Amino acid sequence: MSETQVAAPRTALSGDDAWVWFNGDFARYRDAKLGVMTHALHYGTGCFEGIRAYWSEEAGRLYTFRAAEHFDRMRDSAKILHMRLPLGTAELCEVTSELLRRNGYREDVYIRPLCYKSAEEIGVRLHNLADGFLIYTSPFGPYVDVDKGIRCMVSTWRRQDDNVAPARAKCTGIYINSALAKTEAVENGFDEAIMLTADGHVSEGSAENVFIARGGAMITPPPTENILEGITRATLMQLIVEEMGLEVHERPVDRSELYIADEILLCGTGAQVAPVIEVDRRVIGDGEPGPLTTRLQGIYFDICKGRNPKYRDWLTPV
Ligand SMILES: Cc1ncc(COP(=O)(O)O)c(C=O)c1O
Repeated sequence: MSETQVAAPRTALSGDDAWVWFNGDFARYRDAKLGVMTHALHYGTGCFEGIRAYWSEEAGRLYTFRAAEHFDRMRDSAKILHMRLPLGTAELCEVTSELLRRNGYREDVYIRPLCYKSAEEIGVRLHNLADGFLIYTSPFGPYVDVDKGIRCMVSTWRRQDDNVAPARAKCTGIYINSALAKTEAVENGFDEAIMLTADGHVSEGSAENVFIARGGAMITPPPTENILEGITRATLMQLIVEEMGLEVHERPVDRSELYIADEILLCGTGAQVAPVIEVDRRVIGDGEPGPLTTRLQGIYFDICKGRNPKYRDWLTPV
């Protein structure tokens, strides 16, 4: 790993000039190239993360949100795919901070680490193939509307089972399942898809975990419902108990429970905390973002922006 720290540029670097981390060193985007035979490109043999860094106007700096937890999860994903991350979590967090400094952002940013089978070889497998590793960063606003609420459909595409391809490993290839569901939803006039498991329980959104509110408690499907074990989900589960004094239950959720829920929210690094106001043309609650969701969203954003010292441990100042 390069030891040279580079001063932040006056304006953020983008496009070909942006810095990336590519196979063990910093490189300009234009110089980070992959061969057309790269295994991961053909067979989906990669795993990735999505991490956010939030710009704090008050502090005049970026804060990375729960980066260590993301890299720890990535190590688990890699293990499932017979891969190894090239660095420890602390080093990966340092590389990420240096990358953000070099690119000089003064706005919210998305960080995308990718571990992939880099061998330029034909043959479907995971063993005896070299791994590559990269991180790129990009300015990133909201992924879905977090203010007025989103409209969802229950997808006709089922979430794949753990024994088909494990959702808990954030594998590149598996995202074809999410992409099919998202495109179906958008082409049908909705904002997002909610997928069911093969046996008909609620699993998750195309890139989000699901919470519903019923009778003053919050409920979210357990990991055995083929979900990605979301960092935002774990964050919200803690905040619901500690900051709102409510119960949170991990249990199977039926499709029809979505229709009668008092509130629904989708959460994830990209989606953040997004109120759901409609599912399959049934209005949720009174069709506006619900009070529990709105409160939880406020607590979450305060923490991400560095305004709550109690959860400062979740942030890495860049
Ligand atoms: C399929 C899926 N589920 C859930 C999530 C939420 O995970 P996290 O909160 O760790 O970003 C994501 C986010 O990337 C996702 O792609």
